[in-house]
Amino acid sequence: MSGIEQLFVTSVYTGRLEARELATLNPSLLRECRQLREDDDAGRRWSRKNYPGGFTSYQSANKMHLNSPNFARLEARLAAHVRKFARALEWDLGLRRLQMTDCWINIMPRGTSHGLHLHPVAALSGTYYVQTPRGCPGLKLEDPRLDRFMAAPPRRADASRANQAWVVLPAVAGTFALFESWLRHEVPANPLRAERISISFNYHWV
Ligand code: NI
Repeated sequence: MSGIEQLFVTSVYTGRLEARELATLNPSLLRECRQLREDDDAGRRWSRKNYPGGFTSYQSANKMHLNSPNFARLEARLAAHVRKFARALEWDLGLRRLQMTDCWINIMPRGTSHGLHLHPVAALSGTYYVQTPRGCPGLKLEDPRLDRFMAAPPRRADASRANQAWVVLPAVAGTFALFESWLRHEVPANPLRAERISISFNYHWV
């Protein structure tokens, strides 16, 4: 008997807020993201050096879920999805639970990109999309085994999604993606004049 088994699977969870929730919450989040860019001097300074052309509150206002009722509402809406994903991953959390530890804003005008990175000191990470002009870049995920492929042939251009070396998840306002924090990802440069706005977050098990 011969056969092939899928092992060491990389799982990614995507979802969308309920329509009614979306209609009220997303405009509030959008206003708040823009306002924060005005108010967050430290964030603008940090972004000038580390996020050219764009704005991120990653180093300054990175506990938005604790500081803003709208962001707290987003966290509450994500909670059930996070639990569902953890169940699907078959994590044994013991007496601990997953808690959002960081939550920050990213605004990408034309030309701003976010290079390949992962999220250290977290278990689960993700992004919620606030404003996604048509044609804006998605979230590009990298096969976590890529640095071990010594003499491996490339994958066929028409290979199944599961066998691609990179997969791009489209960015659509009102939707979100969750992934394990070790999964490297990037956002290619935004080619549009309109801004791509997202909220990223980390969860730790505490
Ligand atoms: Ni990231």
